[in-house]
Amino acid sequence: MPARAWRICQTYSDAEVCDRVGGYCAIHLGCSGRAHDRRPYFRIPSMTGTETLADLPPIRARRILQLALKCWPFIRPMFKHLLLLLGSAALVSLALLALGLLGTDLFNNKILVGDKLQPLQAQLLFVDESFVLGDIADNVNEREVLTESQRKTVRTRAMIWAAGLLVVFAPLVGGLVYYNIWIWQMINQNLRVAMIAKAEHLSLKYHSQSRVGDAIFRIYQDSATITSLVQETFVGPAAALYNIVLALAFLCFFEPRIALAAVFAMVPMILAAAWATRLLRERALANRVAFSNLTSRLQEIMIALRVVKANKGEGRVLRRFDKDSHRALDAAFSLRMTIAVLEVAVTSIAALVTIGAEYVIVYWVLGERETFLGAAAVTVIGFAVWNLGAFEDARERLGGALFGATGLVGAWARLQDLFIGLERAFYLLDLEADIVDPDNPAPFPEPLESVTWQNVHFAYDSAQPVLRRVDLVARSGTITAIVGGSGAGKSTLVSLLLRLYDPDRGRVLINRTDLRRLRVDDIREGVAIALQRNVLFAGTVADNIGYAARRPKRADIEAAARVASADGFIRELANGYDTELGERGGKLSSGQRQRLSLARAIVRNTPILILDEPTAALDAETELEVMRNLRGWARNKVVFLITHRISTIRNADQIVFLEQGRPVEVGDHESLLLADGRYRSFVDAAVGETAGV
Ligand SMILES: Nc1ncnc2c1ncn2[C@@H]1O[C@H](COP(=O)(O)OP(=O)(O)O)[C@@H](O)[C@H]1O
Ligand SMILES: [Mg+2]
Repeated sequence: MPARAWRICQTYSDAEVCDRVGGYCAIHLGCSGRAHDRRPYFRIPSMTGTETLADLPPIRARRILQLALKCWPFIRPMFKHLLLLLGSAALVSLALLALGLLGTDLFNNKILVGDKLQPLQAQLLFVDESFVLGDIADNVNEREVLTESQRKTVRTRAMIWAAGLLVVFAPLVGGLVYYNIWIWQMINQNLRVAMIAKAEHLSLKYHSQSRVGDAIFRIYQDSATITSLVQETFVGPAAALYNIVLALAFLCFFEPRIALAAVFAMVPMILAAAWATRLLRERALANRVAFSNLTSRLQEIMIALRVVKANKGEGRVLRRFDKDSHRALDAAFSLRMTIAVLEVAVTSIAALVTIGAEYVIVYWVLGERETFLGAAAVTVIGFAVWNLGAFEDARERLGGALFGATGLVGAWARLQDLFIGLERAFYLLDLEADIVDPDNPAPFPEPLESVTWQNVHFAYDSAQPVLRRVDLVARSGTITAIVGGSGAGKSTLVSLLLRLYDPDRGRVLINRTDLRRLRVDDIREGVAIALQRNVLFAGTVADNIGYAARRPKRADIEAAARVASADGFIRELANGYDTELGERGGKLSSGQRQRLSLARAIVRNTPILILDEPTAALDAETELEVMRNLRGWARNKVVFLITHRISTIRNADQIVFLEQGRPVEVGDHESLLLADGRYRSFVDAAVGETAGV
């Protein structure tokens, strides 16, 4: 688990983190009836799974350069390797080019046609003088040829050479391919880690407005486009261009009109690519959005599995998934289809031109027509007149030029998707984190005197204020009970104290220091929270209590368990504190689990302790016992307690009655009863309930 997520888990249990980070998930489904069950969580438009091209900057040359520059910090650590790779690849391809030239000549002119060898070829094949072309001046009229047996010798030795080269070059080329993959995976790794770090730094407010699946998809799929950045943007097109130019040059020696035909054929190809560009971009984006929605759906289903099962929602969930999955398939299909149609179109153009050229060349071969440069061409292309070899060679060159262009068009299509992916990856990276450490952080105030909310306003969504004008002081050594109906803003109020969110207006102070002047880590080091939805892990009881503390001693763990009234039942377990608790603590009752998570918060021994309904599953007697223990334990601490139980609330030093995000009444039990207001009605209602009226 990344360090910061771990630290958040220490303060908010991980269920709460995925609850809040997930925004919309099982846990919300699980608390049905609350206002936010039904609210839309998809508000930031481009993070919502509905982004369109208009949300992205247009892909122009400048933008491509910009994106490439943005990639640089992730590429830089691997730059040495890239240079080494490039150098080795250049050497290998030069060697292959030279061997290719020698080999083509050997095969076409010597083995097939029977011409005599160049001296270098004879040396390499270890054959004697009789294989070598004599002085041309001596026998102008007679063409020297190899005998049948000489041709066989040349063929055999050439094949031995080919086999030998294969043994040498195959692993070399394979190694380079592997090296290339490794380098780019490392670069992708750098980018992914940066994106995770960013996701962790973005406040939970941000995360509650976007779907987790979207971030996941951006981090592990969109980011992966960086692996083909250089290949697709620079290397691939450069190599294709080089091949095209080379092929065209050779064609000119054969016959410039064929080269010209190839160039003309490229015009409609380019037009087709230009025409398809916008469509490609739209579909590439739709494809990525559809799959990121699918990832979100998957993530939501997996988290919600228990709730879904409990509510027999499998059929509905399956249908929804099926729909999303189909959408993703359709999007993927229509992108592939566009690319395929484009490729078929340009390939057809290439094929047509090739066939036309072949048709013409056959006539030239039959007429033994001289090639364009004639005798002068022999040194470059090896053919003075059109013959079978020339036909083969010219056709290959023409294919090189035309299919090079086809390849370029394909690369262009893939580039559109690649840059859409990069845009989406960098969108996440470019977001400004809104919860950040200050430049010159103040130390965490010691000793703790008070916690203050000063005129605090807060909303998850600006249209719907959650906290309004909250003024509240809690002093050291006191227990403050926060009371109010569901959705009143109790949890939100205390989460500001953890700086999970910043207030929109006003300040939260520890002593006289604004939370925003403290390091986020220090705050979370100083505040412990226990929640109703607690999560236990596979491990022993002691591990579970101590996991959020720093190197807890067994004595501390046991002391915390005693405060949480958990010591008794733990000792009755088979192995006491060393009892293994299966997955998610399934072996314990919910009241026992709650007491463990209470102990987990207490063992951290932080100056501020928040109990957000962690005692709901305890019976009244145990809760009262826990409260008595806490009072003794919390002498110089500030404790916040969110609960509905009057017997507990009445013992608090201060009661805050929250209504629609406003603390409408503040005081102790007696004085609030005397005031005869909201709190009084709340108490009367609760007492009436327990009395069975
Ligand atoms: N992560 C969130 N994103 C958006 N709205 C939220 C989120 N959490 C809570 N809310 C909304 O804020 C209001 C207060 O919620 P909360 O603080 O959990 O209330 P309480 O703890 O008193 O039940 C509710 O209307 C709820 O819908
Ligand atoms: Mg709550």
